Amino acid sequence: MSLLTFWDAGHGPWVAARAIVRRVKHIGVLTSGGDAPGMNAAIRAVVRTAIHDGLQVTGVYRGYQGLIDSELRPLGARSVANIIQRGGTILRTARCQAFYTPEGRAQAAVTLREHGIDGLIVIGGDGTYRGAARLSVEQGIPVIGIPGTIDNDIYGTDVSIGFNTAINIALDAVDRLRDTAASHERLFLVEVMGRASGAIALYVGVAGGAEAILLPEVPVDLDAVADTLVRAYERGKTSSVVVVAEGAVEGGALTVQHAIAARCGFEARTSILGHIQRGGIPSTRDRVLASRLGFTAVKRLQAGEHGVMVGIDKRGTVTVPLQEVWEKKKEIDWELVEIANVLAT
Ligand code: F6P
Repeated sequence: MSLLTFWDAGHGPWVAARAIVRRVKHIGVLTSGGDAPGMNAAIRAVVRTAIHDGLQVTGVYRGYQGLIDSELRPLGARSVANIIQRGGTILRTARCQAFYTPEGRAQAAVTLREHGIDGLIVIGGDGTYRGAARLSVEQGIPVIGIPGTIDNDIYGTDVSIGFNTAINIALDAVDRLRDTAASHERLFLVEVMGRASGAIALYVGVAGGAEAILLPEVPVDLDAVADTLVRAYERGKTSSVVVVAEGAVEGGALTVQHAIAARCGFEARTSILGHIQRGGIPSTRDRVLASRLGFTAVKRLQAGEHGVMVGIDKRGTVTVPLQEVWEKKKEIDWELVEIANVLAT
């Protein structure tokens, strides 16, 4: 018996709930905010799970903007063939200001009703959940979120789709920059993305053996950073790598370079990794996470759960109210911050 047949035979936790809840028949799916590697795998999982369960699926193009402008197309199992390995999102994405207004959300609800869509799955980052929560409450549209952002800054899930691929790309860059840093006996500043979160910088800094990691969550003392680098030099290090989260210092890594080089006199270079971190082939981990969350979102929607985001933590897949997702702040991994400080010395 295949795993899915096992669920259908009545062993899945959703089966009992299905009997008492008005059955969702037609699901809409969209991606919103910055694209993240693995979003396509999540779309594929949503579409294939829904079709397996006898539901209709429609893709909404360009995020919430596509809901307002009525840019929708039906999706079938074949529409999502050959996309699990592709970065970006086949549905395209956008950051939509109009959706922050009640009028914009009302128009989105009209579009959904006109197409007969009775459940919406939104895949995206931080900004996605505020709109989703409001659409759900104001317009009575059943909405479920799936966390997709390289920043890994979403409350309610240990990890979001795209983070693993992004840190692997950034780490590869740090490893390469170390070669040239060592050859020229230079200091390298590497700026990584993450908006107001230091999660990417922290993971990449620890895994790349950075001499210092600058995070938005920890006040930055550039004198102390310069001292650390000088002490490392005195202990015999001839080159250093400092990973800088884009939100750590006003002006970014270039400002850090100028401040530190002036204090310690090292020859320094800065490399800003930018959007390279967002593109390319999603890692195994991101594809599996996306498949798991896409599958679960469809099952939960059918079981009558909505106004929630599906995430993952030590318990497995979990749901968190959308309201909490956008109101609460995800903490940085403070244990890893301490480890980073000890290991950098
Ligand atoms: O949220 C993902 C992210 O890549 C952030 O890390 C970054 O600050 C931002 O998006 C960049 O946004 P844009 O693609 O609009 O320049």
